[in-house]
Amino acid sequence: MILGVESSCDESSLAIFDPSIGLCGEWVHSQINIHKSYGGVVPDLASREHLINFPFMLQQISQQLSDNKISKVAVTCGPGLSGCLAMGVALAKSLSLYWDIPLAGVNHLRAHSFSPFINLHKENPDKFSENLDQLLPHLGLIVSGGNTILFEIRNDLAIHVVAQTVDDAAGEAFDKGSKLLGLEYPGGPMIEKLATSGDNKKFKFPRAFSGSNEIKFSFSGLKTSLRYALEKMDDKELAKSLSDICASYQEAIVDALILKTKQALVKNQYKSIGLSGGVANNQKLRSEFENLAENYRLPFYLANPEHTGDNAAMIAFAAYVDRLGVKESQDFDLSFYPSLTLDDNM
Ligand code: KG4
Repeated sequence: MILGVESSCDESSLAIFDPSIGLCGEWVHSQINIHKSYGGVVPDLASREHLINFPFMLQQISQQLSDNKISKVAVTCGPGLSGCLAMGVALAKSLSLYWDIPLAGVNHLRAHSFSPFINLHKENPDKFSENLDQLLPHLGLIVSGGNTILFEIRNDLAIHVVAQTVDDAAGEAFDKGSKLLGLEYPGGPMIEKLATSGDNKKFKFPRAFSGSNEIKFSFSGLKTSLRYALEKMDDKELAKSLSDICASYQEAIVDALILKTKQALVKNQYKSIGLSGGVANNQKLRSEFENLAENYRLPFYLANPEHTGDNAAMIAFAAYVDRLGVKESQDFDLSFYPSLTLDDNM
């Protein structure tokens, strides 16, 4: 039984994972309402919130903690905000010391990479390892507020980054676009909602590197192009065109993600594809990924909506599945690593 702890940014989360069954419980306290009025996450407020939230959460789940014999504590040790990571690592160290059980430091980005396989485990826990082996090498895309990373999981579970963004992340493009349009944070869900009634061909937004075989992403030009388009409009025109702008803007982001994923599929042989991170909630992106998987006759694994944001379930799961990316620490030397990358082998 693994207790997962996550606090890398603005979600305090705990989860219990039983390798023979799957997730037995998961709890997330989101701070979104606290940061909303600032238009983004305020690091000092976020770490203070973790300090307040975790004791309440532990109190709430005390029954589950005593019913399930916890044999390991797994905690996000990076990347993330220093003060926030420190809260989770300090809590995890204290619990592991108190219960006298091992402590495991988990790379948050590797946990996102494996999160689409939580369902594969749930379908058949006993055969999970064999089933996962059949799906490797795997091509996955993490799309969140801070990351846009195309990666492969190789047969030995080593992760290799295939492409990343050279500037803004896809989620950041949604958030910054939404801010320019005077919409609320986080921008992705707002833009997606308005896009449903818009014409996605009405505005021409750029797709970076679309004429090139180079596999990489860029979204800052897209945001600038939106700003230029808005400068030419008055409030009345903007109100009239808002849903068309949202649909065209969303289309440009999704197109760029799909194009580069397709190029990676042409370049190398993969046995499955996956999608994770907050932007994976976008229906347009999900359905385009489904089409892509169908065209290439590959099984498609998508993170559950509750596992796309920051969550302790994927941290506990990664501590179980990820042989290379977990730093076991018996002597409490585990620290936190704010700038850990996906292909750091921890
Ligand atoms: O994984 P996550 O919590 O990211 C970070 O904390 O970095 O995801 C948050 C990001 C935000 O940028 C948000 O706008 C985006 O995911 N997002 C979406 C949708 N839901 C969340 N983007 C597009 N469509 C959505 N439905």
